[in-house]
Amino acid sequence: MPSGPLVKATALHKTYRTGADEPIRACDDVSVEVERGEIVAVTGPSGSGKSTLLHLIGALDSPDDGTIVVDGTEITALKRRRLPEYRRRIGFVFQRFHLLPTLTAADNVAAPLLPYKTAFDKHAKAAELLDAVGLKGRETALPAKLSGGQQQRVAIARALVNDPVLLLADEPTGNLDSRTGEEIVDMLFELRERLGTTMMIATHDAGLAERCDRVVRVRDGKVTDA
Ligand SMILES: Nc1ncnc2c1ncn2[C@@H]1O[C@H](COP(=O)(O)OP(=O)(O)OP(=O)(O)O)[C@@H](O)[C@H]1O
Ligand SMILES: [Mg+2]
Repeated sequence: MPSGPLVKATALHKTYRTGADEPIRACDDVSVEVERGEIVAVTGPSGSGKSTLLHLIGALDSPDDGTIVVDGTEITALKRRRLPEYRRRIGFVFQRFHLLPTLTAADNVAAPLLPYKTAFDKHAKAAELLDAVGLKGRETALPAKLSGGQQQRVAIARALVNDPVLLLADEPTGNLDSRTGEEIVDMLFELRERLGTTMMIATHDAGLAERCDRVVRVRDGKVTDA
């Protein structure tokens, strides 16, 4: 395992230019480090650049300038064709669950594995993860038959199916009532205990942020407090 922080992002810049409007500096000289096993909250007002930062670190988008090293690999130096391989090592969780409506809970969890040969049984792994997120017995349920909190649990199980080195969660409790949101956060902490997964969580939820090991605050694309 390479030494040093799991994530080291240095002097990231990302400007969006849309037509005639003023360019938007969504990421303006942002540097962040995340230690292995750490759970870091990213907070800030709407439009401050939280999602942009997560997208850059997950290589869903690329910075205009700056470097990102994750687990010893400089992803900003990777060739475009190598990025899918990197993204498979990252788990993504979104506010709107994004489950495939025609697949069962277990098939949703196993879906990212389907194109690949694995040394283990894909469906056994999906069942194991559904158990880990508290959904044992609901393997064959379709998303529409599950509550919002249960759907987010399925989405988290799916995000973990490739044993990610890093989990990036963008407003994971944003569509849930506060009690269900708390349960999801409890579960993320339990998963960290069990699997040691490092997490970055973008959130508006002050209660969630407070429970994290550390809070990185952003405003107008800049880190104001890390
Ligand atoms: N693909 C894009 N094209 C153009 N502008 C964008 C794009 N993505 C984000 N932006 C702009 O960049 C800025 C930062 O957006 P971002 O989504 O990162 O903010 P955020 O902190 O996640 O906000 P929220 O709390 O509302 O989710 C905003 O002004 C947004 O409008
Ligand atoms: Mg956002």
